[in-house]
Amino acid sequence: MAGVTPGKTFTPGLDFSAQSYSHLADKVEADVSRAHHIIKEKLPLLGELKALLSIAFGDKAPFFIDARSGTAAVLDSVDDEPDTRLNIKPEYISQFYDGKLEPRYGLFKDAFFNEASMPSGRIPVAIKFADLLTPHPPVPPKTADKFDRLPQPTEDLDQVRRDVNEFGYGIAKNVLTAEQVAIMKKAVQEQAAGERDAGIAQVDGGPNGPNQRLWTLVNKGDDFLDLLNHPIIDEMIPWFLGEHAIITTYTANIARPGNVPMQLHTDQVAVQPPIRDLAFGMNIMFYLEDVTEKNGATRVYPGSHIGQIAPPDIFTVDGTAAAAAPAGSALIFESRLWHATGPNREESGERPVILLFFMRSFIRQQENNFLSLRKDVWPKLSDRVKRMLGFYTTGALGGVDGEVREGLFVEWKEGVGKMRAAHGR
Ligand SMILES: [Fe+2]
Repeated sequence: MAGVTPGKTFTPGLDFSAQSYSHLADKVEADVSRAHHIIKEKLPLLGELKALLSIAFGDKAPFFIDARSGTAAVLDSVDDEPDTRLNIKPEYISQFYDGKLEPRYGLFKDAFFNEASMPSGRIPVAIKFADLLTPHPPVPPKTADKFDRLPQPTEDLDQVRRDVNEFGYGIAKNVLTAEQVAIMKKAVQEQAAGERDAGIAQVDGGPNGPNQRLWTLVNKGDDFLDLLNHPIIDEMIPWFLGEHAIITTYTANIARPGNVPMQLHTDQVAVQPPIRDLAFGMNIMFYLEDVTEKNGATRVYPGSHIGQIAPPDIFTVDGTAAAAAPAGSALIFESRLWHATGPNREESGERPVILLFFMRSFIRQQENNFLSLRKDVWPKLSDRVKRMLGFYTTGALGGVDGEVREGLFVEWKEGVGKMRAAHGR
């Protein structure tokens, strides 16, 4: 909660505003000082950067790491244009060093709200710099062309499971019939058109936003509720994530021509400190169109789910494999796999898919299902779907008013906390 202003005090005598343990300015100085110490300690390694890097901590004057010759030195000023410029919070340097923050997340997470914090110049230099500060710098993934075999669409679900274990992904074929594909595709396209017409379309994929995403599909039609009865879920999710995994997002993603590839990421980026030893989630991506390398197939680094692996440049999909498969297939991939929405290089048409993403039951969902769910949808939910959305206790989590016995369905409970109010009158 650091830096978040306390709210209004309700009770006289409980105003803490005169009590303070720290001063923000002192904290910033301490963070800057530690960041400089860390960089100094890591200088022998930073020679690997082979570049000139400018670093600024907020509005402080930048300093420079000159590693162009292969040995690194810190300089206050330089005559040449740096290869890369970083403006970063000094505490992130400490967090990289302590292994508490994954560099590809830490370097770019603030850029969405504050453009000045976006690294500029040669991005791989920025990533390598942050990697070299970590306790265990990652190694690059093996490129797709180095594999003798890659997962192919198959109806053999045991093979899909073996592929998930070996490659981080597998492709189940004929999961949806042609009729089911047509129904789901129509549902997605109608919803997408409706959101566009209403001016609420959520778009990405470059400055013109050709890609469109539909969020919270539980609210967007009975067809999407029906899809949650699909047995592929039962075949894959409990096997991989245990019995009580929860839907963290249920979305459609339409890749259209002219998009730029999304940046490479894993789907467990929210798990910080980064934990690579355990997969926290699994995605089922239903293909509603023949998905090809050309029309925007999801790009993956095969096998990148195992080990301390991370791509040196997250802004290129060179070296990845395209998870191509016919309409009606489902791409099943686990959350440590490095991947991205692929570029759609077709002239026309679009590539709609539905993404059903589960995470282990103790992980906070990306979509806040409890607030998002429309009230008129609630009565339609089967117990199965309520469990999938987290309206169910497990592992002493998810209860209401302390009731956390295993296996209870929960819903809004009127009157929680009212006793005190009645007695205190
Ligand atoms: Fe993803």
